[in-house]
Amino acid sequence: MDLYEYQARDLFEEYGVPVLPGIIADTPADVRAAAEKLGGVVVVKAQVKVGGRGKAGGVKVAKSPEDAEAAGQGILGLDIKGHTVHRVMVAGGARIKAEFYFSVLLDRSNRSYLSLASYEGGVEIEVLAVEKPEALAYTAVDPMIGIDLAVAKQIAIDAKFPAELVDKVAPVFVKLYNVFTGEDATLVEVNPLVLTEEGDIIALDGKVTIDENADFRHPRHALLEDAAAADPLEAKAKAAGLNYVKLDGEVGIIGNGAGLVMSTLDVVAYAGENFGSVKPANFLDIGGGASAEVMAAGLDVILGDPQVKSVFVNVFGGITACDAVAKGIVGALAELGSSANKPLVVRLDGNNVEEGRRILAEANHPLVTLAATMDEGAAKAAELAHAAK
Ligand SMILES: Nc1ncnc2c1ncn2[C@@H]1O[C@H](COP(=O)(O)OP(=O)(O)O)[C@@H](O)[C@H]1O
Ligand SMILES: [Mg+2]
Repeated sequence: MDLYEYQARDLFEEYGVPVLPGIIADTPADVRAAAEKLGGVVVVKAQVKVGGRGKAGGVKVAKSPEDAEAAGQGILGLDIKGHTVHRVMVAGGARIKAEFYFSVLLDRSNRSYLSLASYEGGVEIEVLAVEKPEALAYTAVDPMIGIDLAVAKQIAIDAKFPAELVDKVAPVFVKLYNVFTGEDATLVEVNPLVLTEEGDIIALDGKVTIDENADFRHPRHALLEDAAAADPLEAKAKAAGLNYVKLDGEVGIIGNGAGLVMSTLDVVAYAGENFGSVKPANFLDIGGGASAEVMAAGLDVILGDPQVKSVFVNVFGGITACDAVAKGIVGALAELGSSANKPLVVRLDGNNVEEGRRILAEANHPLVTLAATMDEGAAKAAELAHAAK
């Protein structure tokens, strides 16, 4: 889960990372009030979970509360790379002398943490990495040691910070690392970390990605969740404990195991080319235990998507055998009753497949078509979706 900048700012403050005051506002009048409260020069910043807000006109300096209100007026409602701005943060204005870059992230391929730092921040890190790779210091961080003051100083030296700044930025790196581990984040990024004219080091922007697998030890992370911005179907699936991602097509997909579901998406997209370019409508992995309840919850979510015209259930019976899955499907359709109203193509294979197919054939549900293979099922589901468009 990515956090908004203002949420990252709050966490930084809690961990002692130097930040400027920030007040969130949802209306231009609130922006004005926040600017009055902060006093002096403020910066009005769009709160959307996407980078490059500055370039997109989502970050504006305001010298007076009137200016701030006007900036709020301009930024609220703005579309930044497909994200509508519903909220801004009114932040204190920094007098920037220099901009730096620092991040620490989970490095899956090396099974460790990685810190990236540069004396030349402010620009997009992807651009810097390509155009001036020598300006970017990569440091593998041993999780057993972490970023202590000694490691932090070495990072600053490698990132070409001048000697007089090394001692100033290193403690900030340590605190940012504390945010990273303390909150079970997979990314903490500050771009820019700045040196002000007054000589202070301040985190002016913050991006934090929280590892949701660790939510069980952070009950308060639930408060960071953005229920309003999440897709309502995704929210419903999450509440039911399902692994669901909404996509843009017409063929609903249910499978067991992430790998099978991913390849089902490919096969349906490929088959769809012959049927008016219909595409998969979602990713839904019902995992190992394809019980009637899980199947019903999954079907309920998918059938609730008005874009869905047909559903392809592609299950390989393993520990949960095909007969249990078939019973799950029959049970789910009974449970959903008239709200199950779109054609279903079912392909079963694996453990106890004959019995599974027999159960479905016997139930003889008017919406269900059995497919012998994955390709056949994908083509049938695509055809049905196209016919219903
Ligand atoms: N509080 C602030 N005071 C002064 N300048 C700021 C402030 N916040 C951001 N800026 C300037 O705006 C630029 C873009 O802001 P930033 O928060 O990094 O957004 P984004 O990375 O989405 O463009 C920064 O690089 C910095 O130069
Ligand atoms: Mg930034």
